[in-house]
Parts: sequence; structure tokens; C-alpha cells
Amino acid sequence: MPERVRLCNVNDVPSGGGREFVVGDRIVAVFNVDGTLHALDGICPHAGGPLAKGCLTGTVVTCPWHGWQFDVVTGQHQLTPRIRQPTLPLMIENDDVLIELPS
Ligand code: FES
Repeated sequence: MPERVRLCNVNDVPSGGGREFVVGDRIVAVFNVDGTLHALDGICPHAGGPLAKGCLTGTVVTCPWHGWQFDVVTGQHQLTPRIRQPTLPLMIENDDVLIELPS
């Protein structure tokens, strides 16, 4: 059964930016696109860069290490169709941001 974990308050991720969270042995990158939060696995599949610390333009985050770009809504790499970063479901309850992690 999936596990729900509280990450933060809804106001803790700035609009147009991202924030990194450590949840157990995972790094989760949460992005705020015009008030809607989206979560990706926070470790870049290229060489382990911190995606939450990348620049967010619209729905696209650019990894700060070597520039790979991902759509934060779908996880899709912007140049290579076969690369898709895992997305993670978020829920909002009473201004708390919860994430559901696969068990
Ligand atoms: S580690 Fe992200 S582009 Fe290289």
C-alpha cells in the first residue's frame, strides 16, 4: 500500500521555482507552476544532478549540472523521447502538501 508523507505547506514552494525534499531514501523535487505543484524524482538521470535546484521556465526545468531539460508535469526529457523522469503524485489537504510514495 502506498505511503503518504507530508512534505510542506502549500506556500513553501515559490511560484516559478522548485524545492528539494528528502523523504526516506528518496530525493523529491517539487515545482510550482503558476500555483500548481508538481513533483519529480529529484535526481537527474544523467549524472545525479539536483533537479529542484534547476531553473524553471514555464513547465520545463533545466538541470543545473549539464542542462538536461524535463517537463515537470510529465517528466518527459525535452530532446530524447525515451527518457522520462518519474513523476510522483501530490495531494493537498488543509494546506499541507502530501506525497504518495510507492511501497
Ligand atoms: S546531471 Fe543533470 S544534466 Fe547532467
